[in-house]
Amino acid sequence: MVIAKTLGILGGGQLGRMSAMAAAQLGIKTHIFCPETGCPASLVTSYFTQAEYNDHKALKAFAQNVDVITYEFENIPLETIEFLEELKPVYPGRNLLEVSQNRLKEKSFLNDIGIKTAPWAPCHAPEDIAKTLKEWQADACIIKTARFGYDGKGQIFHKLKDNIYQSWEKLKTEEAVIEGIIDFDLEISVVIARDLMGQSSAYVAVQNEHKNHILDRTIAPAPVSNEVLSTASDMAHHLAEAIDLVGVLALELFVTKDGTLIANEIAPRPHNSGHWTIDACHTSQFENHVRAVCGLPVGSTVAHSDAEMINLIGDDVHDLGAYLEMEKAHIHLYGKAEVRPGRKMGHVTILK
Ligand SMILES: Nc1ncnc2c1ncn2[C@@H]1O[C@H](COP(=O)(O)OP(=O)(O)O)[C@@H](O)[C@H]1O
Ligand SMILES: [Mg+2]
Repeated sequence: MVIAKTLGILGGGQLGRMSAMAAAQLGIKTHIFCPETGCPASLVTSYFTQAEYNDHKALKAFAQNVDVITYEFENIPLETIEFLEELKPVYPGRNLLEVSQNRLKEKSFLNDIGIKTAPWAPCHAPEDIAKTLKEWQADACIIKTARFGYDGKGQIFHKLKDNIYQSWEKLKTEEAVIEGIIDFDLEISVVIARDLMGQSSAYVAVQNEHKNHILDRTIAPAPVSNEVLSTASDMAHHLAEAIDLVGVLALELFVTKDGTLIANEIAPRPHNSGHWTIDACHTSQFENHVRAVCGLPVGSTVAHSDAEMINLIGDDVHDLGAYLEMEKAHIHLYGKAEVRPGRKMGHVTILK
């Protein structure tokens, strides 16, 4: 088995930072490639390149300096991955990135492998909204841009009485997905790691609570029946196999009142709802991501403690007093110079 000595990471946010820290613990160097200077990952890495994702000269030099390449966010242009793939292995593979970059492809793929989603229809013009609502005999829907949505951005709630042209205008896109509204009981997610040998291991499903569409709190394990936990895990394993995952992905799910699981989104990378694994599991999601893409077997995803993870958003980062005094609180700050409302500045994991 060849184990990578230097891991290249596209993107320099907190996910790249925590991956780089996990790599360092395994004696693996990292090279961060990111368009911005001073980003969280650039502060903890051996090598750093500040360049745009279409800068072929910089990408080539980056590829020459690393053994394997991964990415820490899903909006890396596919052309960048295609260019790099010719030079060094890139994990997770392009198919997972492609599927998770476009909500229409994502939903088709999930349905094709037998995973249930909300009812959905493609939307390329305002008339599609009226047509779909009529077909479904529904009086409301959620419309999401096919690409680049995050933290609730790029989506609107549309009621039958709303003006379809205004709704379409607001989305500022040419391609969107119309989704039926799911009356869910709670939202959960499963993070799964799969290595180059095809072995996979999932963390227990967790509950996610959002505030202003941004993840606020994760509760591990999710307060659902063992049956729901095990179905969620099976779905993640099925997805990881079907997409031939190498690395870590997260599957976001809605749990309805009768315990049905409906898939919402795939993240092709470590996920905010997996941060608790750093302090509460034998192997964190970041270590498992690094292990998987660098040719090592994935480690145990078993939790040694139950946990609650609280995101520190914007000014929350100025209010650490209580956490600093709490015995079982583990504080993680991302080193972002500027505090902005809605910006993820860090998180705290409280072990139970
Ligand atoms: N079809 C749906 N029915 C009900 N609520 C939804 C639906 N889709 C999204 N939501 C709510 O909006 C949140 C954000 O949507 P999501 O598709 O996960 O986009 P983002 O990329 O912003 O995370 C979800 O976590 C959920 O609370
Ligand atoms: Mg989401």
